[in-house]
Amino acid sequence: MSCNGAASPCAARWMNPEMGNAVAIAHPNIAFIKYWGNRDHTLRLPANGSISMNLDGLITRTRVTFDADLESDTLLLDGREAEEATLQRVSHFLDLVRERAGMKIFARVESENNFPVGSGIASSASAFAALALAATQAAGLQLDERELSRLARRGSGSACRSVPGGFVEWQAGESDLDSYAFSLAPPEHWDLCDCIAIVNPSHKEIGSSAGHPLAESSPLQAARVADAPRRLEICRQAILERDFAALSKIVELDSNLMHAVMMTSRPPLFYWEPATLSVIKAVSTWRDEGLPACYTIDAGPNVHVLCPGSSAAEVEMRLREIPGVQDIIRTFPGGPARLISE
Ligand code: PMV
Repeated sequence: MSCNGAASPCAARWMNPEMGNAVAIAHPNIAFIKYWGNRDHTLRLPANGSISMNLDGLITRTRVTFDADLESDTLLLDGREAEEATLQRVSHFLDLVRERAGMKIFARVESENNFPVGSGIASSASAFAALALAATQAAGLQLDERELSRLARRGSGSACRSVPGGFVEWQAGESDLDSYAFSLAPPEHWDLCDCIAIVNPSHKEIGSSAGHPLAESSPLQAARVADAPRRLEICRQAILERDFAALSKIVELDSNLMHAVMMTSRPPLFYWEPATLSVIKAVSTWRDEGLPACYTIDAGPNVHVLCPGSSAAEVEMRLREIPGVQDIIRTFPGGPARLISE
C-alpha cells in the first residue's frame, strides 16, 4: 500500500502527532578493526567485517516528525539548515523508511550532536543510528535490533554498529539480509577508556562515503581484506578476555593498515596532521615504559587513545602536554541506540 499525500487515509493517520513523531539518541563508535571499502556501494556491503566500541557521553539526539503539510523533507543540524548534499542523503534514507511503511509523507528532522562532527569521531554512525530509530518509530514501524542495524547501515556503514550496545561486531555478510551488527559484550564488560586527542576539530575534506570507493585503487587493500578474519578473531578474543596487551597490538596494526591503504589509493588520502604523528609516537613510548595505552585513528586527524579506565587520568594528563593537542574528550563504553521521551 502506498499513500500519496495529505488526502489519503494514511496521511490522516500520520497527522496524529503522537504517531508521527519520535526522538532517539545514539552514540558514535570507535572501530578497533576498521571498515574501509565496500563490495556493494549502494547497499553498503563492506569489504570486511569490523569491530567497535560505542562511546558513552557522546550523543546524537534526533527528532523526526512526519508532517502531511510539508512539501519536502527538512533537516536542522545543530540548529542550522543543513547543506543540500546532507539533506539529500537524509532524504534518500527517509525514502527507505517511507517505502517500508508504505507512506509518502515528508519529515522534519532535527538533529543535535554534543561533539565535533566530521573529524574522525564517527558522527555519521550516531547520526544514522539515531535517525533510523527515530524515523522508523515515527513511521509506526517496529524493527528488531538486527533489522534496525541493517537499515542504519544503508545511511552510513558504521552506523549499523551504533545500534547495538557496548562492544559490537559487524559481520560483513553476503547480502543485505546478513550484513548487520550485534553486541559481543555489554558496556559494563570492560572498563576501557577512549581518550580522544583533538588535534583539529574542523570538518574533514573527504568524507568516508567518498573515501570507500578509493580503497580498491590501493594495491594494499586486497591484502588488508584477506587478513581481516585473522585480525577480527584476535580482537574478539582480546575483548572477551579483557586482554589489553593483545588488544593494543591488533588495534594499532589494523589502524596502520587502513591508513596505509588510504595513503596509497588513487588519489591518496592523508588524514593525519603533524600532531597526529606526535600522539602516535608518544603513545608507543608510554607503552614501552609500562603505561597501558594504544592508538587508533579513523578518517580524520584526531587520535583515539585507548587505555584501561585505571590509567585514564594519567593518559589524559600526558596527552594534554603534547604540542598540537587542543583538547581531550574522555569516553567509556556506551549503550545502544534508544528512544527517549520528552
Ligand atoms: O560508516 P562510514 O562510511 O562513515 O565509514 C567509517 C570508516 C571508518 O570510520 C574510517 C572506519 C570504521 O570502521 O568506522
